Amino acid sequence: MSSHSATPQPLTARRGASLTGRVRVPGDKSISHRSLIFGLLSAGETAISGLLEGEDVLRTADAARALGADVERLGEGRWRVRGVGIGGLASPAGVLDFGNAGTGSRLMMGVVGGHPITATFDGDASLRKRPMRRILDPLVKMGARVVSEAEGGRCPITLEGARETVPIVYETPVASAQIKSAVLLAGLNAPGRTTVVENEASRDHTERMLRHFGAEVSVEPHGSHGRRITLVGQPELTARPVVVPADPSSAAFPLVAALIVPGSDIVLEGVMMNPLRTGLVTTLMEMGADIAVLDRREEGGEDVADLRVRAGTLKGVDVPAERAPSMIDEYPILAVAAAFAEGETVMRGLHELRVKESDRLEAVLAGLRAAGVDAEIAGDDLIVRGGRVPGGGTAATHLDHRIAMSFLVLGLASEKPMQVDDGTMIATSFPTFVPLMHGLGADIG
Ligand code: S3P
Repeated sequence: MSSHSATPQPLTARRGASLTGRVRVPGDKSISHRSLIFGLLSAGETAISGLLEGEDVLRTADAARALGADVERLGEGRWRVRGVGIGGLASPAGVLDFGNAGTGSRLMMGVVGGHPITATFDGDASLRKRPMRRILDPLVKMGARVVSEAEGGRCPITLEGARETVPIVYETPVASAQIKSAVLLAGLNAPGRTTVVENEASRDHTERMLRHFGAEVSVEPHGSHGRRITLVGQPELTARPVVVPADPSSAAFPLVAALIVPGSDIVLEGVMMNPLRTGLVTTLMEMGADIAVLDRREEGGEDVADLRVRAGTLKGVDVPAERAPSMIDEYPILAVAAAFAEGETVMRGLHELRVKESDRLEAVLAGLRAAGVDAEIAGDDLIVRGGRVPGGGTAATHLDHRIAMSFLVLGLASEKPMQVDDGTMIATSFPTFVPLMHGLGADIG
């Protein structure tokens, strides 16, 4: 098992002065994982800047090394990967321990599944609960074999990759960039075309990076919200520099904090504005949030902007299910914003939240109730009746970084302080969260 079961570290957030200042949150987690994986699969030297140095990504770096890459840290966020190229991977000597990271483990299953090598995947107690059949099913269709798995298709899993990878057409059962990416990564080592069909478009970083590294990928619309993505297999991937933009899913925490702490006025620099990641900003603007999108520009092939955020009054809204893929990781912090909004917020179609780092639907509900907020789950929907946030309770985080950060943000504006039972998992995605929030004037400790 992973070393993540360190001693729990409770943290408390208290109401204090308004938040002010300019900050840049760390690099995007999705792009950071992918930059290491594409570095592994390319010939030559991939230079990465702005890499998120969170524990999840460091596990992916270790796995890339175990599969044959030479991965080196040159300085803060600056990394170099000397890859082995598609087809050049070696079976790792030991277990690949992904810690808390669903993305790292699932994308690497795709890589291993498309190569004639065998690897064992494992992680912490949270990762061991997460469903992996959704990844293994298409990989088996492509010729991989599951040698062993824990009950219900859970980690630890030993996967024997395909000897001759079969290109397939695969319709994902849920909108998931992780499933899509695993199939495309396996398809890199298949002769011919591998196609993924998704009924709702999920984040497209894998498609963008495949092209950036020299693969041929076509994307067509599918139905009203979906896409059909086709990759031509066995390309020569060539090392390319990667500039990782600031993670919108991390920016979400200081962003909502500035909205709810009276008098706040902050700027978040260089936040990625990929339209498949901006559902939270859209929703907050509908709630009446004062967010100015400044200096839109391009960085490393992605749209970025500075966001100026000022505190103000929010009102409850109805968030449609179709928006879920573009803000899937942001519901816990949106629920916190909703607690401070006037009236009712209904967030629809959240079944996928049940299989994240924790059952986020239950964890958010329990945390809101611990803070004295009126909320309920109705089917797949979360309903929050906002206005008064007493605080004064403890949120159970269940090894989930986003639950921890969300309820600390809540405590910055609730009547009484709010505690979270364990802040250690914050290091998986946003290791500088507490000092960054201190820099803005927040009282967390
Ligand atoms: C991710 C995809 C999402 C998201 C996760 C990162 C990715 O998961 O929740 O944090 O980088 O591909 P799903 O694709 O399973 O929804």
